[in-house]
Amino acid sequence: MPDYTEVTGRITALCEGETDVIACMASIACELNQEFDHYDWVGFYRVTEPQLLKIGPYQGTHGCLTIPFDRGVCGAAAKTGTTQIVADVNSFPGHIACSTTTQSEIVVPVFGPDGQLFGVLDVDSNQPDAFGAEDAKALEAICAAVFGRPGMKP
Ligand code: SME
Repeated sequence: MPDYTEVTGRITALCEGETDVIACMASIACELNQEFDHYDWVGFYRVTEPQLLKIGPYQGTHGCLTIPFDRGVCGAAAKTGTTQIVADVNSFPGHIACSTTTQSEIVVPVFGPDGQLFGVLDVDSNQPDAFGAEDAKALEAICAAVFGRPGMKP
C-alpha cells in the first residue's frame, strides 16, 4: 500500500493560500506523478459545461481532450459523484483508452467549497489492479483539503 503522508503534506503546503483551481491541479498532478512509479498518467478533467469534461493539467502521455459524462471511467465518476476503481480497464464497459498500455485506473470526483463538481482526478497505471480503497481515501482527502477550501474558484 503506497504511503501518501509525505506527498499529501507537500501538496497542502504548495497549495496553501492559492485559490486558482488550475494552479492547484497542476501542482497535484506533478507531485503525485513524481511520488509513485506506478502512476503512469495523472491528471484532471474539468467541468467546462453541463455534462462535459475537458482536459486540464496532467502528467504523462497524450490525454483525450473532451469526455461527456455518459462516457468512460471519468464520465462515470462525474455522473455519479463517486470514486471509480477499475482493476482491469478492459473489463470496464465504455472505458476510453487514451493509451494502449493502461491496465488499471482510479478516478476521483473533485468538489468545490459549495459542493459543486469542479471535475475529476484521473490516475492510470500500466500495472493491473494497482488501486484500492486506501488509494481512494487518500486521493479524496487530498482533493477535499485543496479544492474544498473557501474561495476556491474554477
Ligand atoms: N480512461 C479514461 C479517459 C482518460 S485517459 O485515461 C487519460 C476514461 O475512460 O474515462
